Amino acid sequence: MKTKIGVIGGSGIYDMDGLQDAAWVSVDSPWGTPSDQILTGTLDGVAMAFLPRHGRGHVHSPSTVPYRANIDALKRLGVTDIISVSACGSFREEMAPGDFVVVDQFIDRTFAREKSFFGTGCVAHVSVAHPTCPRLSEACGEAGRAAGITIHRGGTYLAMEGPQFSSQAESRLYRDWGCDVIGMTNMPEAKLAREAEICYASVAMVTDYDSWHPDHGAVDITEIIATLQGNGTKARDLIGRLPTLLGAARAPCPHGCDRALEYAIMTAPDK
Ligand code: ADE
Repeated sequence: MKTKIGVIGGSGIYDMDGLQDAAWVSVDSPWGTPSDQILTGTLDGVAMAFLPRHGRGHVHSPSTVPYRANIDALKRLGVTDIISVSACGSFREEMAPGDFVVVDQFIDRTFAREKSFFGTGCVAHVSVAHPTCPRLSEACGEAGRAAGITIHRGGTYLAMEGPQFSSQAESRLYRDWGCDVIGMTNMPEAKLAREAEICYASVAMVTDYDSWHPDHGAVDITEIIATLQGNGTKARDLIGRLPTLLGAARAPCPHGCDRALEYAIMTAPDK
């Protein structure tokens, strides 16, 4: 089987350079219109598909990103591995602005989004006990280290609805819960990728200390944008190293991400 790497770029990352045979393509999905066209091409002999999560020009808020259409469109293009790149706030002193975190757990506090491809007609319950792919996450960690990025391997991401940032009380609560970072977009994306049987890894780029830190004021978007500008270059470097690390040929996922539906569908086949 051939590898096809899908990259979902977050705030500050709206395209990808260095692709051979690059073309923006439109993909139709029964789940709606994806956030934007998808940039396809090859990098070091590996097929790539890049989708700006918020659309070029940043037109979708975290609550209005068409998550199901995005994951479905990547699946239709044959994507086997999704790398999510997104901005996040940090609950840990040692996860400083400019650092990257390879997230491996989530607490999903979003409430105004469609979260499943399954419902009436076909019911399925996939496991998201381990919501990210360890093989793909390891490759992201290795690519980040090789790029000279301070990258933390493992972390719990609190997914909030937004678009407003958290109050100080919420920020302290999430810290007490053991969360490491906070963002607005990785859920339901990770759950939908699992339902679509696509390996998913999340690289969260720290832009701020949210609002718990006594030495830092409230989060503000100008601080986030300033940090993102540096982060964007680092993220591109990390992504550019993945094709060589992952290779053009792909074995079945050792963790079973690509077989997540095998025992998950409840509805009788003749229904
Ligand atoms: N994205 C970047 N910083 C964030 C924060 N503090 N809270 C939620 N999303 C964010």
